[in-house]
Amino acid sequence: MKVIGSKFWGQDSSLCVLDFEKNEIFSVNADRVSRIKKDNFDISAILSEFNNQIIDPDVIASPFNTFDGHDTCLENKGTSYFWLNFQKILRKIEKPKYYSDLKKKKSIFKKILIFFYILPNIKFFYHYFFWKYYMKKYLNGKLNVKKFHLKYCTKYIQKLLKKINKKKINPIFYDHHTSHSASAYYLSNFFKNNEESYVFTLDQQGDHTFSTLFYFNDLYKKELSRSFTKRAKIDNTIHIISIATVYSLFTKTLGFRENCDEGKVEALAAYGKPDEETLNKLNNIIFLANKDKKIVFDNNKEKFIEFFNKKNLELLLKKIGNKNFSSTVQTWLENIVVNYLNKALPPDKKVNLCLAGGVVANVILNHKIYEKCKVNKIYICPPMGDEGAALGSAFLASIEKKLDIKKLLKNSMPYWGPSYTKEMTLEILKKK
Ligand SMILES: [Fe+2]
Repeated sequence: MKVIGSKFWGQDSSLCVLDFEKNEIFSVNADRVSRIKKDNFDISAILSEFNNQIIDPDVIASPFNTFDGHDTCLENKGTSYFWLNFQKILRKIEKPKYYSDLKKKKSIFKKILIFFYILPNIKFFYHYFFWKYYMKKYLNGKLNVKKFHLKYCTKYIQKLLKKINKKKINPIFYDHHTSHSASAYYLSNFFKNNEESYVFTLDQQGDHTFSTLFYFNDLYKKELSRSFTKRAKIDNTIHIISIATVYSLFTKTLGFRENCDEGKVEALAAYGKPDEETLNKLNNIIFLANKDKKIVFDNNKEKFIEFFNKKNLELLLKKIGNKNFSSTVQTWLENIVVNYLNKALPPDKKVNLCLAGGVVANVILNHKIYEKCKVNKIYICPPMGDEGAALGSAFLASIEKKLDIKKLLKNSMPYWGPSYTKEMTLEILKKK
């Protein structure tokens, strides 16, 4: 039995194969193959490079299951079908090597040249036209139709897997944060040693959610709390209100690449001091709340819109300087997460804790959690981004099919990409 889990497109697009006959795991991010860091394109680079490993799956799993247009990311929006199709044509012409190639301003001569290359390709204009048409509807709030988003997302998945999906298997869709949680617990030694653990997830957005707390004990799991996203329009852009969005807007204001360079802000924060006035403001934008006897992160949409306009952030940066600006958002992140866990985890004992979701790439935050929360042992999921969620969805699908993932994971290390022999490495070096 071969189970595939994939984030088919969007940032951290990736694919894993759990092969229960060979007892092997294969897993790789698309940007490790294409070399375009944190690209939001699809997994076609993986499919063309490793088609032998991926062929003929029995189960196909995906870590998203709401297709109603609420999330602003590409992953569960039907409009992505059209965007990805015309992007594929453009990329065949432009042949970008790095992320900077995608962002480079093109000269008029280059634009004319590209136009003449595209001209005979009717498919490009078809997809571009419908992308524009549906995006306009989406931005006006007139495309919140599950039927549309699910239809076109499934259509693109089938198109991507056309050559390898000979059994014509339909994908199974799993909740995004349950997938993140599954990746963290099942990869941990807690699962291998039959120990229980709590699992905390924190990312920007996925299936209306940016954070969850789960309890896992072997194959039993229970959701304890879930924090939902809200949408807010600022400077004509729709934002999803979440802790990660706050951090990434600070990252962007500093001139770094959002959802990519947050580690630079974390490093810069070490040289500054938090600005108390801004900390108070942020504490009134996202805060802890008790809803139905569950501790969650809640937010004030009006205050988010008021604070996070471009002008306000730029003025604040000018006033307090880049080091204090970084320190403020880092301190706020550490405080709000530590406060949450101290309220949400059992008060009377130390527990095992697993962490997943893109925000837990923040190592200082993880250290603060370990120091300041009632944690016995901690496990940080190495593929904490959405590549981990893809793996988690494959684990969830395997468990549903009664496959023994414990046996599969028994002696595994978190390095599942392609392997290269000494001879292959030397051959490549000689060519250079
Ligand atoms: Fe995620």
